[in-house]
Amino acid sequence: MNGNIRRVGVVGGGQMGAGIAEVCARAGLDTVVCEAGATAARAARERVAASLDRAVERGKLEAEAARDALARLIFTGSLEDLSDRQLVIEAVIENADAKTEVFTALDKIVEDPAAVLATNTSALPVMRLGMATSRADRVVGLHFFNPVPVLPLVEVVTSLHTAPDTIATVEGFAARTLGKTVVHSRDRAGFVVNALLVPYLLAAVRMAESGFATAADIDAGMELGCAHPMGPLKLADLIGLDTVASIAASLYDEFKEPLYAPPPLLQRMVEARLLGRKTGRGFHVYGQE
Ligand code: CAA
Repeated sequence: MNGNIRRVGVVGGGQMGAGIAEVCARAGLDTVVCEAGATAARAARERVAASLDRAVERGKLEAEAARDALARLIFTGSLEDLSDRQLVIEAVIENADAKTEVFTALDKIVEDPAAVLATNTSALPVMRLGMATSRADRVVGLHFFNPVPVLPLVEVVTSLHTAPDTIATVEGFAARTLGKTVVHSRDRAGFVVNALLVPYLLAAVRMAESGFATAADIDAGMELGCAHPMGPLKLADLIGLDTVASIAASLYDEFKEPLYAPPPLLQRMVEARLLGRKTGRGFHVYGQE
């Protein structure tokens, strides 16, 4: 099937799911996005439309290509609409139960036994999601980076059960169809990027928590002193503090390294729904987007 994937499904239309759906539609693929009900499906469509508008404004995309991409996308509230897909990418909340539920359902719904079921998880074991299906050989990690239309990397994550032709299929899809650069990782919490990135983000949270420096100075330090495009606390706000905390918890659960343990300030902010950009306030305050 390598190279012939034309019908893609995306489960979840949040910032990652919407971004993945956008790059699939921009690559000319027939793309169905499934959200939890009609209201969430409408919000997902608006998210993609806003990002396409931004791409046009910044001269990255012709207005006509943006219109065509949006026309290729179908938004639905029903997983059943993914039955004819050749590849489904799950991008729901970073929670083991929620993701397992999606894989169990997809296993029953997606008709083609050769279809690939991929997860955009950042840190949960791909193996466990595979084991929730009757086709663990067709289950693989396909991990994108936020903002998906901008960042060129995709991590391909192989579980102990993933078949070599499943890996070849998603690698061809990510590299040739989407034009992304692929790196490979074994199925260990955090894979390559988050295993390195998250302890750094947590160190910045601890630095702010201890009063050692302000959030603004911590970010300015890494932006101006190390040429990072955004400082660690702005980046944590972009990723979503709930997602950062979930990834940290998975890393800690896997390796039991104290550096991976989510600091109390992060936990409190998540409980307070100060999740970063998506709720308007995290370590920084954001206007209506
Ligand atoms: N489509 C296509 N291109 C777009 C776009 C869109 N919707 N929106 C913006 N761009 C392009 C712009 O045209 C610009 O390109 P050039 O540099 O070639 O001109 C570039 O993206 C930057 O855009 P802006 O100038 O509008 O914005 P910015 O300079 O403030 O950058 C940012 C914003 C891209 C988010 C940048 O700050 C950045 O890269 N930050 C780091 C993000 C990062 O590290 N993400 C990884 C998070 S980890 C993760 O996602 C994994 C996980 O599991 C948690």
